[in-house]
Amino acid sequence: MAARIQKLLQQKPGEGEITVNGWVRTRRDTGSFSFLEINDGSCLSNLQVIADGTLENYEEEISKLSAGCSVEITGVLQESPAKGQTVELQAAIITVIGWADPETYPLQKKRHSLEFLRSISHLRPRTNALGAVTRIRSRLTIAVNLFFQERDFIQVHTPIITTSDCEGAGEMFQVSATGEKKDAPFFGSSAGLTVSGQLQAEVYAMALGQVYTFGPTFRAENSNTSRHLAEFWMIEPEMAFCDLECNMAIATDLLKFVLQDVLKNCVEDLTLCNKFIEKGLLQKLQDVVDKDFVHLTYTEAVEKLQDVKEAFEYPVEWGIDLQSEHERYLTEKVYKCPVIVTDYPASIKPFYMRVSDDGKTVAAMDILVPGIGEIVGGSQREERLKVLEKRMKNAGIDIEEYDWYLDLRRYGTVPHAGFGLGFERLVQFATGMSNIREVIPFPRTPGFAPC
Ligand code: 4AD
Ligand code: MG
Repeated sequence: MAARIQKLLQQKPGEGEITVNGWVRTRRDTGSFSFLEINDGSCLSNLQVIADGTLENYEEEISKLSAGCSVEITGVLQESPAKGQTVELQAAIITVIGWADPETYPLQKKRHSLEFLRSISHLRPRTNALGAVTRIRSRLTIAVNLFFQERDFIQVHTPIITTSDCEGAGEMFQVSATGEKKDAPFFGSSAGLTVSGQLQAEVYAMALGQVYTFGPTFRAENSNTSRHLAEFWMIEPEMAFCDLECNMAIATDLLKFVLQDVLKNCVEDLTLCNKFIEKGLLQKLQDVVDKDFVHLTYTEAVEKLQDVKEAFEYPVEWGIDLQSEHERYLTEKVYKCPVIVTDYPASIKPFYMRVSDDGKTVAAMDILVPGIGEIVGGSQREERLKVLEKRMKNAGIDIEEYDWYLDLRRYGTVPHAGFGLGFERLVQFATGMSNIREVIPFPRTPGFAPC
């Protein structure tokens, strides 16, 4: 395997011959030699390569290299006299592996708009911004797994194809086999893509205590916003013997832990985001790590919003579902930090949330962050069989179909809780990207799924 540029840039010069593979970002000719900037995706920085005019393919090939060409280069690492880098590679052999016609290659040196880049989702990871986002996303995945591993959670792979609609919002994509007959569905009954792994995670929490699932989820909601995708990833822990307080504590710790991790491990990429994507990003992330989150109940949130002079598009009264404009007002204007809203009206929340003593609210919690609004949604679960059955009936759910779920309450039921952290919203928050389509490699939204 060739050396990766990220490692090379930290190496001391003069450790013998090295081979690197990568793509040309730029070529600059000065008299008897050329500078090549090579990027291999391992980090934001390019490796500067000195290509001497005496190289045997200099005239024929090297002097014709342009952005996007792939190369293999063998040479010696030496101290760089230029500013901005400590080492450079003095090339002994440069082999052109693939050409990229400069007449047609869409990624020329100028800066492209993120909208334009979205139209070439197969080429956009080659840009600095999308490369940085992809590396930060990858590190966040590692940090999430580290967090749960350190706390003895067990990872469970919940199914992608399912016959239960966890959120009960009727936003499922149906799954059927090509040519399947209506009266003989492949899975025996109508199946769909999961909207949440929660119900299956609950099954495992009732056996293994503390589990989490981290996988793709799908929602056929027709909302073309900067924070909604039809296919997104969700991190869903589920904890037995845990109430709403414990649930909020874990969610808070998780957010702080993963943001602290990327602040430490993605310095170069976050610095780029701080400069070009969201000014003040680094400070924003550090503040979330350092400061306490504000806690308030839904009822308090409604009162706060009703005091506001500026009119919202959706008027606020007790019982409404908070809209994004309300959530963002609370976290951006009122508190200027993450806010946890608890105890929502039972009527606007799914059947599985635990009904509180007042009979009107459920033990729910949403975490709202500036620039995004809701990033986490969770609750304590209804562990009392009779209460759960009643809520399901009221919600018009076919109890027979969820008999397996009710078994969890029939046999050794315990208070338990969990939440879902939208992974793309987390990556959005961590990178400052204003549109969620930029933080997933291949976004799927209504009318859009190009490759
Ligand atoms: O609030 P939601 O719908 O909660 C659940 O699905 C629960 N079953 C989770 C649980 O308790 N285990 O979704 C959780 C989070 C939201 O807070 C949001 O961050 C994200 O998932 N999310 C979306 N992200 C991108 N595109 C969408 N269409 C999303 N819908 C929800
Ligand atoms: Mg929610």
